[in-house]
Amino acid sequence: MVIFSTISGTTRKVAQRVAERIGDSKILDARTAMTLVPNHDIRYVLLFCPTYGDEEAEEDFETLLISYDWSALSGTAFAFCELGIYTGYEDFGHGLVDMVRQTLTHHGLRELVPPLSVDTVPITDWAMVDVWADLVSSRLAETA
Ligand SMILES: Cc1cc2nc3c(=O)[nH]c(=O)nc-3n(C[C@H](O)[C@H](O)[C@H](O)COP(=O)(O)O)c2cc1C
Repeated sequence: MVIFSTISGTTRKVAQRVAERIGDSKILDARTAMTLVPNHDIRYVLLFCPTYGDEEAEEDFETLLISYDWSALSGTAFAFCELGIYTGYEDFGHGLVDMVRQTLTHHGLRELVPPLSVDTVPITDWAMVDVWADLVSSRLAETA
């Protein structure tokens, strides 16, 4: 399952691209995902969120992260992709990775692949996105 949040649409495009590349048709925005009943059919969750300010996630994503019953998905694999401006920073600490990782691992989810911090300004680094999608795909195949 793929979950994204967006303000200006880039994250939707990136999430759709990854979903297509890994052959997953279940793609939800963060607001809709809030209504999702946790169940055992959910094998993995791929999360996508843009950065709007230092360590600031898009609002719906933040609500999902804080309020969703993640514990009900304990043991489920997750992977996280943040979008923003990363090249040139020695430290990616201004992003969302720590917050997402800490929250989800605290609730017992396990990280499938390392997170992706993808540059989308001035243009989206699609090559980076595709490499990450292929990594996700191969890890899912290994753990099938
Ligand atoms: C007002 C504004 C503030 C932003 N602040 C940050 C930031 O603090 N850090 C960062 O990495 N990217 C920042 N960005 C870049 C966005 O994260 C990037 O454009 C992203 O792709 C937007 O995703 P969306 O189109 O899905 O909303 C900012 C963009 C805008 C327009």
